[in-house]
Amino acid sequence: MAFDFDAIVNRRGTRSYKWDQSERLFGDADILPLWVADMDFNSPPEVEQALVERAQQGIYGYTIRMNSYLDAITGWFARRHRWSIRPEWVTDSPGVVTSLALAVECFSEPGQRIVVQPPVYYPFFDVVRMNGRELAYNPLIERNGAFEMDYDHLESLLKEGAAMLLLCNPHNPGGRVWTREELLRLGELCLRYGVTVVSDEIHCDHVYAGHKHIPFASLSDEIAAITLTCLAPSKSFNLPGLQSSFAVTPNERMRRTFETRVKALSLHMSNYFAPVATEAAYTYGDRWLDELLVYLQGNAEHALSFLGQRLPELRPMRPQGTYLLWTDCRALGRSVPELKELMFRRARVAFSEGSVFGKQGEGYLRINLACPRSLLTEALERFAVAVRG
Ligand SMILES: Cc1ncc(COP(=O)(O)O)c(C=O)c1O
Repeated sequence: MAFDFDAIVNRRGTRSYKWDQSERLFGDADILPLWVADMDFNSPPEVEQALVERAQQGIYGYTIRMNSYLDAITGWFARRHRWSIRPEWVTDSPGVVTSLALAVECFSEPGQRIVVQPPVYYPFFDVVRMNGRELAYNPLIERNGAFEMDYDHLESLLKEGAAMLLLCNPHNPGGRVWTREELLRLGELCLRYGVTVVSDEIHCDHVYAGHKHIPFASLSDEIAAITLTCLAPSKSFNLPGLQSSFAVTPNERMRRTFETRVKALSLHMSNYFAPVATEAAYTYGDRWLDELLVYLQGNAEHALSFLGQRLPELRPMRPQGTYLLWTDCRALGRSVPELKELMFRRARVAFSEGSVFGKQGEGYLRINLACPRSLLTEALERFAVAVRG
């Protein structure tokens, strides 16, 4: 391996959202944080080098979007995902959640119903509710240790007039990498009922051996024409603090509407640093990402085997993608406050507590696997001791 993912990088005192809030959030500065989806690995060296060179310019003026930036994006998706994006389909945005919120505003009306498939990344609920729309729930079904979509229930929601669907592809939490067949079936329903799809594909690059990310908009021209895909290099290369993201659609009307809203809120100016990092990551990041995936898959196997041996009553879902381990802890018989007490007070670890992903997540924990294996082991060890203690 050319990259040392075992190296412990001390992130305390770096203004880290993950590492410098334990006292404030959980009442204990020494808690091991394995919650927010941010990795404890250095980004690819080419990204750091590009940012250092950029910083050394010394004048941090207004910045333009270069063709080389768009070429890096289109090149990456063609190379890694066999999806050919035209540069003019790309609109920049400060974040995927920003794009989700803007899409809700742009492509639905106040009071309309928007489908989400819980348990799901919790800002999906917020962007609907906070923009005055109604949530229509299509809970995922667990079958043979993995989530599936409930197409019958989905169809009933679409029939009743839901205007939009927020898709999480791959899915957080649960780590499902939806197959072509599953996505096609979803796409056909959305086409039939005239529903806009906003596909959050931020986890697209973290997919493990034996699975393949299918960009929803790559399924057909018809499906692409009803879809806004929200993307970012932030999960893939650990750049979430740079606020670099973009939305893609070939549908010109949708793009104009979205772009106009981005401009109306004055979110369109390029950040001085972010595009440089994005361009470097998508141009030079292949090897780093390939090695990262091997390491992450190793961490997933390690956690599964640890839990299997030490806490066999828990039921972790083997992730097909994402660095998140969705773990059914209901056999511990603890309420949500009791699970928090167990994590924060007794084990002194912070996994994500499952009910924030929807009521289906009560009794579950989401473990962030993207840290050096020694740290992951320590966190699991602390948790196992606390459960048995
Ligand atoms: C599914 C999903 N979408 C979006 C985000 C956050 O995106 P951003 O920071 O670009 O708003 C996350 C972060 O965990 C995520 O898991």
